[in-house]
Amino acid sequence: MQTPGPSDEDKTTAILSGTGARLLRLKSHASPRVRELVRRLLESRAGLASRRRAEALLALIDKDLPGRFGVPAEARPSIARVQARAEDMMSRHGFLGVPIETFARAGWRQLNALRAEGLHPRSVVLDIGCGCLRGAYWLIQFLDPGGYHGIEPNRVRVEHGLRYLLTLDETKDKRPRFDFNPHFDSSVFGARFDFFLAGSSWTHASKPDSETMLDAFVRDSTLEGVFLTSYLRARSAAEDYRGDRWSGTSHESSAPGVIRHSLAWITQRCGDRGLSVTERSGEAFDGQRWLRIRRAEARS
Ligand SMILES: C[S@@+](CC[C@H](N)C(=O)[O-])C[C@H]1O[C@@H](n2cnc3c(N)ncnc32)[C@H](O)[C@@H]1O
Repeated sequence: MQTPGPSDEDKTTAILSGTGARLLRLKSHASPRVRELVRRLLESRAGLASRRRAEALLALIDKDLPGRFGVPAEARPSIARVQARAEDMMSRHGFLGVPIETFARAGWRQLNALRAEGLHPRSVVLDIGCGCLRGAYWLIQFLDPGGYHGIEPNRVRVEHGLRYLLTLDETKDKRPRFDFNPHFDSSVFGARFDFFLAGSSWTHASKPDSETMLDAFVRDSTLEGVFLTSYLRARSAAEDYRGDRWSGTSHESSAPGVIRHSLAWITQRCGDRGLSVTERSGEAFDGQRWLRIRRAEARS
């Protein structure tokens, strides 16, 4: 006898909870009725304008499911709009730490990668080294008010991102929080994070810096928390970065630089802290790969 599948109500609950992205990966589960229920639920809550934006984004992301990195036709206008704003920003202020050619698409992929890990509008997210808000733009749009937190010691980059990428209303409505400490100190927000994101930070961070981020994750994330960090894997011992300084532009340096870390070293340092690490298949963005880090006991 066949076991009955989940009801539409169960699917809807799952979509609105942390398991939603996994369900949505099976596109067939996202039937028109489920979509309609999600839409009604989203609209029934407070903060209608922001809920609508989150829902619109959800609808777009459903079509750009994890593992497939093409941009769906409906998302192209917003990708193009963000790209144009970023080009304006960089033409006026010069290099802001990330390549301009892939700016909007790489930011979009950061949101998508978190969605694949179960991000939903009510998630609480920390973006370490958020720079000029390439990934933050999408996260701020998607998350409920107050859900986004960014750390960036180069304060001007955040100011540029807010000015060029977001409207004043969007910032006021979504209330993103920022801190400018250079110590990767996530405790300043007094929050427990469902997600840590470090997009293109471990491609510059020294090993001690990366370990500080792991410690912050252990201290300030929820038990089921996920840390997504993009990185470039060292292909030989010689490529494994041994320096003790940030390599690349920052609040202290205008010299570009990119470094690689050995996956074996990362795995060991995670293990020391009771964390497991998995390299996700496929490209993250800009030639980097995603590492998914979480508590070893939280693995399903
Ligand atoms: C390559 S950018 C990536 C920005 C953003 N995550 C993105 O994907 O667009 C790295 C950022 O990390 C910032 N950074 C440098 N030192 C840092 C520190 N100690 N703590 C946090 N961020 C730092 C740099 O200023 C830079 O803006």
